[in-house]
Amino acid sequence: MNRLIRTLASSSHMLTGPTVASTMAPGAHMGFRTFMTPPVLKELKENSFTKQCLKPVSERQYDRYDNLPQDPYQKDRLHGFDLFHAVVGDENVVLNRLDQQVFSIPSTNMEQKAIAERRFGRFDEEFLRDEHVKSALNEIFQCLPLANFKNQKSFAVGIHAFKLHMDPATANFADATVEGVHRDGAEIIMINFAGSKNVANNSAQTYIWTLDQPKGQPDMQNLEQLKNLIVEDRLNNSGEYFMVLDQQVQHHIGKILPHDASLPLERKVMVIYVRDFKAADRLTLDTQTPVNYILPAQKNFVCSRL
Ligand SMILES: [Fe+2]
Repeated sequence: MNRLIRTLASSSHMLTGPTVASTMAPGAHMGFRTFMTPPVLKELKENSFTKQCLKPVSERQYDRYDNLPQDPYQKDRLHGFDLFHAVVGDENVVLNRLDQQVFSIPSTNMEQKAIAERRFGRFDEEFLRDEHVKSALNEIFQCLPLANFKNQKSFAVGIHAFKLHMDPATANFADATVEGVHRDGAEIIMINFAGSKNVANNSAQTYIWTLDQPKGQPDMQNLEQLKNLIVEDRLNNSGEYFMVLDQQVQHHIGKILPHDASLPLERKVMVIYVRDFKAADRLTLDTQTPVNYILPAQKNFVCSRL
């Protein structure tokens, strides 16, 4: 066990078992936090990873995942995506939804060379207006000073939401990260668990790896590779999330197995990230179906004092 695993295991924030209480930050069980506490930020800064908890996702929002657009490239996945332009002011951070984005596929990726562009479906406005989305945005924005932006005042915020499902007639597991170990190419990522049905408790773990771990499917029997494993953890309850400093570590999700193999399974997750804009981003505001967020700026942020 390396230093980081020991550090996390001894942390009161760290998940050590399947119960809700053991997964929460101090005080969270008294009512869900509405702000990021210095110990949480310290943990994220030191370990590049933290597990925390927001309010459980409402039934309405959980059900809205059923209406997400079909992922055009992964048939067992519904997938909504929108990119926002964040502008940081003295009092507020304002996010404006951009027009639909188009992903280009790197020419070095032979398997996907035939796909000229990747265009994911967008969110219904009511999904984006939900309290859980706003809470999660507010939470990740508390961590902005840990992001090493080129431009601290103007950057990109991506929101993805996924419903992964498995039909027992055609499959016996689902895979949230078919690419294996990877980074998202962001500064900070937040993986928010909305909930799941018929997922085995000993599956769907999140693995955090050092940058030394080769990208792609890991060999979990390979002791050399396992030296690169920083922590294994799991999202168990609706509202729980992982925050990850994406420049510092890599991640992947283990196979998602059914609890009852004769029944379908589903797992619903929202990922939010913040990053600098890239050349491929389309920087035109969505004027047809605009969605804006106005979040308080972090006047009292204490990162420099950690
Ligand atoms: Fe990822």
